Amino acid sequence: MDDKLYNRTIEFLSEQFKNDSSGHDLDHTLRVSRMAVTIAENEHADASLCELAALMHDVDDYKLSPDTEAEHRNARSFMNRENIPDEEIEAVIHIIEQVSFSGTDTQVPDTLEGKIVQDADRLDAIGAIGIARAFAYGGAHGRKLYDPKEIPENHLSKAEYRNHVSTTVNHFHEKLFLLKNMMNTETAKQIAIHRDEFMHAWLDEFLLEWDGRNQFR
Ligand code: ADP
Ligand code: NI
Repeated sequence: MDDKLYNRTIEFLSEQFKNDSSGHDLDHTLRVSRMAVTIAENEHADASLCELAALMHDVDDYKLSPDTEAEHRNARSFMNRENIPDEEIEAVIHIIEQVSFSGTDTQVPDTLEGKIVQDADRLDAIGAIGIARAFAYGGAHGRKLYDPKEIPENHLSKAEYRNHVSTTVNHFHEKLFLLKNMMNTETAKQIAIHRDEFMHAWLDEFLLEWDGRNQFR
């Protein structure tokens, strides 16, 4: 993507995400697009298509913009204004329709570029950044950090996942620890394994501290 288009894209995204508390901020989108390009290069895919689709992937998300979700109106009108060829717009829309996580109703994208953007989006939900995002989301929604009485509920459908309220530590069991095994590309799988190990180590430490069982040095 050339510098001028990139700068106008950032301007558009800043406006879209300016009031967000759902974890769909500009920085998330930029991380996903950088990660998508890295994966695409390693997988010999179309990196510029991955980059544009990643930049557009959350602008019509149901949490952020429920009215435009179905038609992807925000993404379409931006790309039309920028005179992106129709064929490329349709390729981008096709990718973003397939990327979002919706419990057990989630689909595997049917293009390599779709698989890559989905991987990049999911990678941003795990590891050090993923932990920070989960607690930022939990805080914004008044959730407890953890509650030993609350048992995690796995395998929720799309509707159940969207309506479900629980603690942020439960979110690790309900989503974050599942993502490692949902990566599409080998490149993302390798990155996910490392991030998943890090989250498990972090959660073990958290639970030790919760119970006052940390050892003295
Ligand atoms: P995306 O569309 O980026 O794949 P989501 O919309 O599912 O992700 O969530 C955005 C961010 O907020 C992610 O980092 C996710 O883990 C976090 N998040 C979503 N739901 C919860 C929750 N119930 N508790 C804690 N974090 C959450
Ligand atoms: Ni996202």
